[in-house]
Amino acid sequence: MRLSVIGCGYVGLVTGACLAEAGHEVVCTDIDGDRIAMLKAGGVPIYEEYLEGILASARKAGRISYTADAGEAIRAAEAIFICVGTPPKESGEADLSAIDHVARQIAAEARTPKLIVEKSTVPARTGLELSRALSAYSRNSNVRFRVASNPEFLREGTAVGDFLHPDRIVVGVEDPSSAAELREIYRPILEKSFHCPVHNGTCPPGAKTEFLVTTINSAELIKHASNSFLALKISYANVIADLCEKIGANVEEVTYAMGLDPRIGGQFLKAGLGYGGFCFPKDVQAFIHLAAKVGVEFDILKAAERVNKQRVDRFFEKIHQALWVVKGKRVAVLGLAFKANTDDIRFAPALEVVKRLLEEGAVVHTTDPEAMPRMKALFPQVQYHEDPYDALRDADAALICTEWNTFRTLDWERGGSLMARKLVVDGRNLYTPQGMREKGFEYYSFGRE
Ligand SMILES: NC(=O)c1ccc[n+]([C@@H]2O[C@H](COP(=O)([O-])OP(=O)(O)OC[C@H]3O[C@@H](n4cnc5c(N)ncnc54)[C@H](O)[C@@H]3O)[C@@H](O)[C@H]2O)c1
Repeated sequence: MRLSVIGCGYVGLVTGACLAEAGHEVVCTDIDGDRIAMLKAGGVPIYEEYLEGILASARKAGRISYTADAGEAIRAAEAIFICVGTPPKESGEADLSAIDHVARQIAAEARTPKLIVEKSTVPARTGLELSRALSAYSRNSNVRFRVASNPEFLREGTAVGDFLHPDRIVVGVEDPSSAAELREIYRPILEKSFHCPVHNGTCPPGAKTEFLVTTINSAELIKHASNSFLALKISYANVIADLCEKIGANVEEVTYAMGLDPRIGGQFLKAGLGYGGFCFPKDVQAFIHLAAKVGVEFDILKAAERVNKQRVDRFFEKIHQALWVVKGKRVAVLGLAFKANTDDIRFAPALEVVKRLLEEGAVVHTTDPEAMPRMKALFPQVQYHEDPYDALRDADAALICTEWNTFRTLDWERGGSLMARKLVVDGRNLYTPQGMREKGFEYYSFGRE
């Protein structure tokens, strides 16, 4: 099918690339002309494993193209995937101005009927507003728009694999023909009949993907409800960690045992610096806001958000306890991205950590396998190192902010020999307290003695 994708960020580019890999003809557009120019020149503006390869092969096969002209992309497609950002406003409410802008563009540019697929994360009832805007701004009464919600569940860091091997594909529709069209778009993914970049060509049999057809409001709610639940789980683990510290228990032992119960599950029961990124913080806020707007109290979610915001405070309590005076100390921050395997630093806990260290007068040296270029733009006064051992040289403390595998497997004998003081404050519980102490380190982490 001929598809277009509006918004070439983490979700849009992965969506465009994977749908092209699945055999469709995809036109991608973005309001950022530089981004389109880079893509046209064969560059990839974000880091995501396998993305570069599938974009290159789709381009070679003539299945993907880029244009800065939104009208061209809109007219070219039978179905249009909206993948623009929905950042939080000051109040926490989702800012839907990019969605509104795209709706007006589609209404103005479309000459033939279109299926408009909302992939951006939006509050429930956005689909209704989108339909209203499309008909209000349409210049051609013969052009019919059908709106569908198709929330995206990919995770940065494993986005290509998640898109091509989803647990579920949720489509919220207002008529059966939209569901049928979306099923056709996703057929190669449902049937695993594509060249899988993640598994060297052939998909393993694996679990079957559920294709769920719901109302538009339900589909929108499913996305916010899912992300908020995962955020809740992280905050729960963090409170358990605080409790473990007071009581003298080990949070890893507690959450591991909890997770063995299939009703609970071990994923996201991870104590540490808390969640960040472009999804959980803003989606939790938007969900709280939506609930309040319709008169539903969502106190448990407010508590989860409060706990998460306090994680950096808790980290600094440990830093102060360990380092005493921060002013004038050389500190190595290991990890800037909000999680491993991405270059994304949006709402990353490391941003707040670096900001506070600088405010307190520390000399900050840092390293991250992918996120340094983005961080340099925000904090030019920080020293950046490709090699983690260079970041550790002469440091009074090492602070772990992201769970990259390269940090998990660091040679701490070597690292310690380079440091001015063998002190690690671990915001991601990457090492065992006993193991680090045996190597001669003062070691602080979350929820463990
Ligand atoms: N990043 C994730 O892991 C993830 C996962 C699932 C869902 N989502 C949701 O998907 C949406 C996009 O997230 P993202 O991480 O890809 O954001 P992003 O910031 O990486 O990408 C958004 C892109 O949209 C472009 N854009 C903004 N306004 C535009 C307009 N009017 N016309 C055309 N292009 C426009 C931006 O220039 C940018 O390139 C958000 O709603 C987000 O909540 C994100």
